[in-house]
Amino acid sequence: MAKDFLQIEGLGRDELERLLADAARNLPIAEQKVARKESLAGRVVANMFFEDSTRTRCSFETAVHRLGGEVFNLTESGSSTRKGETLVDTALNVEAMGVSAIVVRTSVSGGAALVARRVRCPVINAGDGRHEHPTQGLLDLLTLREALGKLEGRVIAIVGDIANSRVARSAIHGLVTFDARVRLVGPPTLVGESFRRITNRHDLVTIHHDLDAILDDLDAIMMLRIQTERAAGGAVAGDYREMYGLTPARAARLPGHAIVLHPGPVNRGVEIDDTVADDLPRSRILRQVTQGVAARMAVLERVLAEAGTTGSLAA
Ligand code: NCD
Repeated sequence: MAKDFLQIEGLGRDELERLLADAARNLPIAEQKVARKESLAGRVVANMFFEDSTRTRCSFETAVHRLGGEVFNLTESGSSTRKGETLVDTALNVEAMGVSAIVVRTSVSGGAALVARRVRCPVINAGDGRHEHPTQGLLDLLTLREALGKLEGRVIAIVGDIANSRVARSAIHGLVTFDARVRLVGPPTLVGESFRRITNRHDLVTIHHDLDAILDDLDAIMMLRIQTERAAGGAVAGDYREMYGLTPARAARLPGHAIVLHPGPVNRGVEIDDTVADDLPRSRILRQVTQGVAARMAVLERVLAEAGTTGSLAA
């Protein structure tokens, strides 16, 4: 594995399998069934979150704690970014404090890679603009495999603002690596034909604008939020819920075994209705969050092992 963890695109199946297996081993710790580890003892991780976050930031924090390390958070408000300091300069300063890894969230697509090129410590991408959200990709794969077993030949729909979704990009790359079939669904303004060619597995990805036409044979459906902060709101005409919302009537048409995913934050009554979001065990939305802690533990351990900085400081 490379120094950093920046994207799912380009990761081989073996590498993904290793990370998923590591995450599965960490899951009992994330679930608090087993005591925490000490693999990050004496290490400090910096969370640099320059875009809003609830799940990702807190689960990286939790993951560091569960590995016996320490973590501090830097957000845009309250940091010198507001005084004109660049992302890279901030990261270089944070590194100079002696952190072992930097977790970056930024609205700039490619921003995590920019930081990674300049600092020596490992950088983990926690979502960069429209580009990728690779730890989300891992937790989605973990949740899907837990429910469905092998992903080969499985049919997964991703519904909503594909154009602006880093979650979708990471999921698509991960899913085709395991030979799953991906249906991208949404209004033509947000799901253009070009998304078929987002990976080199054109055979596995199809584009759809009619959600009602594709519900019957799905193994899973991932609902996405319209990324209004990326100016996507205006691109959606009419009543979104009516055309693309996962209503109880639509959920009733899914096969019995099909599961529902959503990366959060959920806009209830828009892309998904209350009763569907809360319909356990079909809805795996909170399970995704737990799997996210295990996934982030695995990635933190992996990048620090590559950098030779796990274990005790004296080692
Ligand atoms: C997503 C994100 O920030 O990319 N949330 C998350 O990390 N779980 C999705 C979103 O904001 O809609």
